[in-house]
Amino acid sequence: MSETSKLENDNKISVGKETEGGITSSYAVDDGVELKVPYSFFGSIYDENEEKAVLEAMHKDSLTMGPKVQQFQSMFKEKLGVKHALAVSNCTTGLHVIAQAIGLRPGDEVITTPNTFVATSLAIVKEGATPVYADIDPKTFNIDPNSIEKLVTNRTKAIFVVHYGGQVCDMDPIMDIANRYHLIVVEDCAHAPGATYKGRQAGSIGDFGSFSFHSLKNITTLGEGGMVTCNNDRWAEAIDKLRCMGNYDWESQTDYWIPSHFDNRLTGGKWANNYRMNECQGAVGVEQMKKLEMLNEIRIKNGRYITEGIQGIKGITPVYEDPNCRHIYHLYTVCVEEAELGASRDDFLRVLYREEGVQGILHYQPTYDFTSFRQYKAVSNCPNADAFFYKRELNTPHHPRLTKDDLDNIIAGIRNAAEKVRK
Ligand SMILES: Cc1ncc(COP(=O)(O)O)c(C=O)c1O
Repeated sequence: MSETSKLENDNKISVGKETEGGITSSYAVDDGVELKVPYSFFGSIYDENEEKAVLEAMHKDSLTMGPKVQQFQSMFKEKLGVKHALAVSNCTTGLHVIAQAIGLRPGDEVITTPNTFVATSLAIVKEGATPVYADIDPKTFNIDPNSIEKLVTNRTKAIFVVHYGGQVCDMDPIMDIANRYHLIVVEDCAHAPGATYKGRQAGSIGDFGSFSFHSLKNITTLGEGGMVTCNNDRWAEAIDKLRCMGNYDWESQTDYWIPSHFDNRLTGGKWANNYRMNECQGAVGVEQMKKLEMLNEIRIKNGRYITEGIQGIKGITPVYEDPNCRHIYHLYTVCVEEAELGASRDDFLRVLYREEGVQGILHYQPTYDFTSFRQYKAVSNCPNADAFFYKRELNTPHHPRLTKDDLDNIIAGIRNAAEKVRK
């Protein structure tokens, strides 16, 4: 990276309040706290390659769904070893077209995790289906396969899993349940491009994967973007139509304008959308794919450095790496064990933030606790997910531009905060 680009990247750490979209575009808080390590909203590294790619793409005739988007799709497909990769406007719209393609409708149930961004469940309820929440594993924070099977009913149509923080779920038992009950498995891979499970890429194990290239993610296509992956030709064709207007050729087209340029039809009974990706995003996606391994390796190295640095602090649990997985550290999630620490997670987080200058963030409030989803809470029994969000977890800043000083400040901050709050 050139010195100028590095400076520009460093500058991106200081996110201002001049953003819209609330928590989807900034965690900056205007409370006078001097931060040593703020929580950055930019999860990648850009340099002159992305800049050049954008400039070239913006001067072409076709500004959307053109050759750059196609190249990005091809690279993605190859990386995952899947038959189809279809670019979309973001992971939420990716999940939505998947929900449409598999024909979710009122009366259907989908077993999913409450420990995720609200997008995962939005895709389910948008098609009128009911999310049914399974509890999470207290070590990986992923959906616990043991809590899935007892929730299967004759209305269950699919399982939507999320590879929390960049570590793939325990997919073998999940696929086994899905096979036995004929359920479709959707992998929400927003955190997991390049993560693996028993050598298999996230997004290539279930029936579908949906990836995010939002600003925070391991690779980003100018702040927004997504990719759907699958191996089934029929479903890929449905996704292709549903992401882009539902336009079809007329059966009896004579000249290209007769009877008109295109017909419009429902796809599997569903109305289509405009969920396209533009060429500048596609061009940046191509450059980001070239960096994916490098970016993931930096995250892994930094994650392990923090783990080593905070090992052995009573009441503090570092990230657990499942030996079956390549964890790509989208998040670095620290758990506070309140009884052992002798203080609450919130007291710890307060000291870490106010006195140590390290901004910790919580992901994710169990989805069934949001006002719009409370109707699905009654049947939910997820004590691990509740304890995780309300008592245990916090995420320290984790992106590939962290310096050694940043990492040492995070480690020292966690050590000092633990000692300060211990009673
Ligand atoms: C687990 C998970 N799923 C889905 C999404 C939605 O991604 P997007 O912002 O690309 O729609 C996110 C984004 O933060 C996420 O973390």
